[in-house]
Amino acid sequence: MTFSGSLSITDPQGAEASSRIRDLWNMRDISHLAMGLVAGFIKAYCLTCKNEIAGSELSIVSTRTKTHMKIGFIGVGKITSSLVQAYCTASIKGLAIYLSPRNAAKADALSAQYDQVTKMENNQAVLDAADVVFMALRPDDARPVIKDLVFDKRHLVVSVIPFFRYQELKEATQPARHACRAIPLPSVVNHNCPIPVLNSNADTESLFSHIGQPLRMSTEDELHSIWTLTGFITPFYDMMDTLSRWAIDHGVGKGNANKYVVDMFQSLANAAQVAEPIDLKALAKHAATPKGLNEQAGIEIANKGAHQAYHEAADGIFERIEKNLLERKQGQ
Ligand SMILES: NC(=O)c1ccc[n+]([C@@H]2O[C@H](COP(=O)([O-])OP(=O)(O)OC[C@H]3O[C@@H](n4cnc5c(N)ncnc54)[C@H](OP(=O)(O)O)[C@@H]3O)[C@@H](O)[C@H]2O)c1
Repeated sequence: MTFSGSLSITDPQGAEASSRIRDLWNMRDISHLAMGLVAGFIKAYCLTCKNEIAGSELSIVSTRTKTHMKIGFIGVGKITSSLVQAYCTASIKGLAIYLSPRNAAKADALSAQYDQVTKMENNQAVLDAADVVFMALRPDDARPVIKDLVFDKRHLVVSVIPFFRYQELKEATQPARHACRAIPLPSVVNHNCPIPVLNSNADTESLFSHIGQPLRMSTEDELHSIWTLTGFITPFYDMMDTLSRWAIDHGVGKGNANKYVVDMFQSLANAAQVAEPIDLKALAKHAATPKGLNEQAGIEIANKGAHQAYHEAADGIFERIEKNLLERKQGQ
C-alpha cells in the first residue's frame, strides 16, 4: 500500500513535510506517522498564515477569502456610476463590485476602467455574488425587477429609489438581514457628500463612511423632506452662475469670476459646517453689518420674494414626492 495523500503543497518546506509523511506511511510506523502528520500540518498552517500576512498567494487550501467587501448594483445609470467611482477610488482593501448588465455601455465602461468591477450576466447573478446590494433603478422599473429577484439572509440592501417606502422594500427583499433607504448624490465621487440614511445601523455607517458622511434619518417623513432639498442643486448652481456672469459683465475675467464665486461659497459653507451648533440665521445676521453691503443685498432679495420662492418650490417638490408615494401605494 502506498501513500496517496491529496495535499497540494508547493512551497519547498511544505513539500519536505509531505515527503516525510509519505516515507513514514510506507514504513507502517504509525506513532511516528501521527507525530509527522501533526508536525506537517502545524508547519503547513504556519506557512499559510505567514504567506497570507505577507499578501502572497500560496496553493495550500485556505478557506479564508481575501475579498472583504462585495457590493452589487442593480441598475447601472448615473448614480451607480458615481457610487462605483467613489468606492473604487476609496482605497478599500478587498473590494469587489458586481454590476447588472443594464445599462450595458455604462457597465462595460466601468468594468474596463476598474479592476474591481465585473459586469454580470443578469440581475440575479449580482445578488448571488454580492453581500451588499444597491437598488438603483428608476421608480417605474423598480417593482417588476425586485419581484423577480431572490434575496438571501446575508444581504444588506440599500435602495436609492425615491418612491419606494421602507416597509415595501423590507417585504420585497425578504429574508435580507437589513434594508435601508439612502440618498447619495453624484458628488459622492469626491468622497465629501452627505448621505442621509433611513434605518441606519453599524454596517450602513461603515459602508457609507468610505465614500461620504452618513446622516441618520429618524423617520421616513424626515427622509422625504431631506429628499426635497436635493431638488435645489440646479437653483444653487444657477445662483452662482448668475453672480459669476454679473461679475464677467463688470470686467472680471471668466476664470476669476467662476473661481471666486465657487471658492467664496465653498468657504462660507465650510464656516457654517464647522460651527457648533450650526445656526444659519445667526451667520446671516452676523454678516449683515448695519447699513453694510450684505444687509442691503439681503433686504432687497427678500423684498423681491426670493426666499418665498425657495419655500414654495420646496413645498411643490415635497407634495410631488408624497403624491407619487400615495399613487404607487394605491396602484399596488
Ligand atoms: N441621479 C441621481 O443623482 C440620483 C440620486 C439619488 C437617487 N437617485 C435615484 O436612483 C435611481 C436611478 O437614478 P439614475 O439617475 O441613476 O437613473 P438612470 O441613469 O436612468 O439609471 C437607471 C438604470 O437602471 C437600468 N435598468 C432599467 N431597467 C432595468 C432592469 N430591468 N434591470 C436592471 N437595470 C435596469 C437602466 O438601464 P437602461 O439605460 O438600459 O434603461 C439604467 O441604466 C432613481 O430612482 C433615482 O431617482 C438618483
